[in-house]
Amino acid sequence: MVKLIIAANWKMNKTRKEAASLIKKVRPILNNKQREVVIFPPFTCLDVVSKLLKGKSAKFGAQNMHYETKGPYTGEISVDMLKEVGCSYVLIGHSERRINCNENDEDVNRKIRTAVENEFTPILCIGENLDERESERTDAILEEQIRNGLNGLTKDKVLKVVIAYEPIWAIGTGRSATTEQASHAHSEIRKLLTNMYDRDVAQKMRILYGGSVTSENISSLLRGKGIDGFLVGGASLKPDEFIKIVKAKPKVVR
Ligand code: 13P
Repeated sequence: MVKLIIAANWKMNKTRKEAASLIKKVRPILNNKQREVVIFPPFTCLDVVSKLLKGKSAKFGAQNMHYETKGPYTGEISVDMLKEVGCSYVLIGHSERRINCNENDEDVNRKIRTAVENEFTPILCIGENLDERESERTDAILEEQIRNGLNGLTKDKVLKVVIAYEPIWAIGTGRSATTEQASHAHSEIRKLLTNMYDRDVAQKMRILYGGSVTSENISSLLRGKGIDGFLVGGASLKPDEFIKIVKAKPKVVR
């Protein structure tokens, strides 16, 4: 059985010392047999996390990388630099980067291709804003982001990509999508992938949900059909919360 992915996006939080302390506190879930735990610390903490995860099943990755492999790109980080510290995952196209750093679908696509060509697992982040949801443009926005983000990827390459559906209105707001809203979006994404590739690819590709996931709503979200894991922001910075999220079981409905 494929394990659910529980990913922790620390965003721009934690110094090296704080990162070490957080990793030590979440030790009970770093060798979890049921879940694939993936930590996304800031660049400066990658080597600290790398050392502390040695011999554990938990993996780690970067929150961004450049699409070129080297050159005059001041302030950027390349795939080889990430490989050197032992990363295997990378977040691509998080809405905070799309909004604050003007990352567009073309940049996202180039990064996804560089990641896949270098044996990395990219997590392609997509999601609509509140205005787009309220004007019933969610499906169209997700389609555009996926078609552009995966442009040019063959079937065998696309299977290396993980998609994270993160509605912008749910990120950091305390207002998670409902289990039904998340399942619906995931099912639309799979229909689109069937269209772009085939049913087999659509079933095999892993699709995560992200946006205000907590230890309170995780059991309900775990019931959602077609949800292969979670990308957790704020709650992943609190060790007890994150441990509960990783260990959570789907809520039983009577
Ligand atoms: P929150 O869990 O803080 O809403 O953040 C979600 C997110 O952006 C993960 O990438």
